[in-house]
Amino acid sequence: MDQAIERPAGGRPAAQASGQAGAPSGGQRAPSGGHPGGIGPVGSVRPEGYVYARAPMLVYWETTLSCGLACRHCRAEAIPDRAPDELTTQEGFTLLDQILGFGRPYPHVVFTGGDPLRRPDLETLVAAATERGIGASLAPSATAEMTPERLRALKAAGIQTMSLSLDGSTAERHDAFRGVPGTFEMTIRAAGWAHETGLPLQVNTLVTDETLPDLPAIYALMHELGIIRWSLFFLISVGRGTALREISPADSEHLNHWLYDRSKEAPFAIKTTEATHYRRVAIKRMTADGMDEAAIAATSVGRGFGVRDGNGIMFVANNGFVFPSGFLPLPTGNVRTDDVVALYREHPVFTGLRDTSAFKGRCGRCPYVQVCGGSRARAFAWTGDVLEADPLCPFVPPVDGERGH
Ligand SMILES: C[S@@+](CC[C@H](N)C(=O)[O-])C[C@H]1O[C@@H](n2cnc3c(N)ncnc32)[C@H](O)[C@@H]1O
Ligand code: SF4
Repeated sequence: MDQAIERPAGGRPAAQASGQAGAPSGGQRAPSGGHPGGIGPVGSVRPEGYVYARAPMLVYWETTLSCGLACRHCRAEAIPDRAPDELTTQEGFTLLDQILGFGRPYPHVVFTGGDPLRRPDLETLVAAATERGIGASLAPSATAEMTPERLRALKAAGIQTMSLSLDGSTAERHDAFRGVPGTFEMTIRAAGWAHETGLPLQVNTLVTDETLPDLPAIYALMHELGIIRWSLFFLISVGRGTALREISPADSEHLNHWLYDRSKEAPFAIKTTEATHYRRVAIKRMTADGMDEAAIAATSVGRGFGVRDGNGIMFVANNGFVFPSGFLPLPTGNVRTDDVVALYREHPVFTGLRDTSAFKGRCGRCPYVQVCGGSRARAFAWTGDVLEADPLCPFVPPVDGERGH
């Protein structure tokens, strides 16, 4: 496979925020079904023509920056202690009340971090979401904070699905990323507890030049964990992630084809995060396999069409600042002073991210722009312009009726 691409010198944006995100994501329905109180499954909010103008499908709430791990790639630059300006329990209730303003079906809230388990009021906040009819998922870190009792309490409070991260197929590899020995073992145990608790599990895996050769072994391991979904997080150069290297566009394309092949045999769904071009590859492959548009739209990848930073996704940082995603450090306002519904529906950053006609470069003239649209976070990280082409996608769109390649 090709060498990883280096970031161009000086390509970083000046702005650096405590970005984003997490867990069960991307428009795939967890098999958790409904919930008492009329709470729908993940993905209840649907787009109109691939545009999520009314409401995001997912609100990622970074409940705290505090985390017992020290991941080399952490976008949040998580730290051991809780920040003094993190949203209080009461402010959390206010945020949930604001989310009701989107109307039904409500967005699904992912309690992420840092490590949300570091908040002693987590069960209270989850229960508050449930009481309001808002669905909830959990994106915790695998540390000693996690116990079977805590997972049972969170399930009882209303958590519908959970994610864990696994960035290496062995303890040596995974723990080297996570900065704390024993994290691999803890993750495997936590997966078992999720099972026992009846929490459908998604596993997230980071894609960098270092993890790329290990992905087949990680994929094999996924079969032992009883997961519903494997989500591959393609590195975004934010936070501590600026010290790592992305894979090359050629490797990304190769990986997307490999993932499509795996998706046909795997007993779990496969999705990508910040690599929306997987959808282009999947569409081409499914079309070649004889599937029509309706059949493609009904697949797990099809149900995520259109979802990307700011379109179907909103991120609330620990201190209340609102971003189009945790990987895109463009603050639009703060829940302490602004209404999240107004920010999502009307702020120019959000509306601009939903207007694919303004996208530039290859993404701007790509026939897949509405379903894909590229990683806006990566475009911003590389160029400082959120509307630029995603530099990881090698697709050259057709000009004047030519076939793209
Ligand atoms: C932000 S974390 C929050 C949940 C929890 N702390 C964890 O690490 O699993 C959610 C996911 O984002 C991934 N992630 C963090 N920083 C990233 C970056 N710079 N690029 C891509 N993915 C990243 C993590 O590996 C993790 O799977
Ligand atoms: S050019 Fe942009 S919109 Fe087209 S497939 Fe690539 S990333 Fe997606």
